[in-house]
Amino acid sequence: MSTFPIHRTRRLRRTEALRSLVRETHLRPGALIYPLFLVPGEGVRKPIGSMPGCFNLSIDEALKEAAECASLGIGGLLLFGLPAHKDEQGSGAWEEQGIVQSGLRALKADRSLASLVVIADVCLCEYTSHGHCGIVARDGEGADAEYEIENDSSVKLLAKTAASLAAAGADIVAPSDMMDGRVQAIRASLDQGGFEGTPVMSYAAKFASAFYGPFREAADSAPQFGDRRSYQMDGANLREAMREVEQDLSEGADLILMKPAMPYLDVLKAARDRFDIPLGAYQVSGEYSMLQAAFARGWLEPQRAMLESLLSIRRAGADFLVTYFAKEAARVLG
Ligand code: PBG
Repeated sequence: MSTFPIHRTRRLRRTEALRSLVRETHLRPGALIYPLFLVPGEGVRKPIGSMPGCFNLSIDEALKEAAECASLGIGGLLLFGLPAHKDEQGSGAWEEQGIVQSGLRALKADRSLASLVVIADVCLCEYTSHGHCGIVARDGEGADAEYEIENDSSVKLLAKTAASLAAAGADIVAPSDMMDGRVQAIRASLDQGGFEGTPVMSYAAKFASAFYGPFREAADSAPQFGDRRSYQMDGANLREAMREVEQDLSEGADLILMKPAMPYLDVLKAARDRFDIPLGAYQVSGEYSMLQAAFARGWLEPQRAMLESLLSIRRAGADFLVTYFAKEAARVLG
């Protein structure tokens, strides 16, 4: 039964003032988190080829970037590190003088950056010589070798890493490795270290995704053999994603992050409907790169496409967004 012409939904679309009045979803700079890739050295500002506008930054340059983010009203930073040396265990991840630990101390020492929530990613893949997110157990030699990413031994190292990041000043630690039981182990390790007040933001549902490709260039973390499908989730599974969230919450996660964002908006929405917790989504490198590639060819209008992509993620239920567009979006949103 049509209600036309009594109801005309176009009436409320006639002017920007009307549209603004009835708008359901809003973006604001304070809900955006900007990822930074820290590298050793000084004065380093190395462009990341597949991510136009993003750079590998030495700590002095990262401080400038952070100052810009603070002045734009951005909510926080997410720190990744490229260590000077990699090894089998990823020991650079928990070194007191590690790249992210040093970056955290520098960022936290600068009072003018106090408006930024500084989040430290907790993972081993940037620090291991083989590029996996945990300890590799090999059986055999050469091309026929079988290997497994060990869960429990990896969790111990992740817990140690999280405590060292909290000690260096991280406002939040964010495990992205997808090992089982890591939230519980990290919580225990933080509490033992006297960091009861440091929240854990768990990447609860992290799918094994082709959209992480450009990040692996940015973080030099591509696995040297095999892939991450034995620990990251199968993209087909929504119900399993709910179990992951439930489990991480029961282990003590304070905030939940879902990733990637745009190809998994249904999963995000399902988590939003089911869990009353602060929920974020990570618009990952490949989502950014594919939009940038289209912008470079003049195929999409940059500003509108960027905002629409971010709005879709907010509408699906994300309270906060990790995005490489954070600075650009904050500039537009004012
Ligand atoms: C580390 C990690 C990855 C991303 C965030 N943390 C890469 C991966 O799992 O391979 C991807 C982020 C992005 O693509 O922007 N485990």
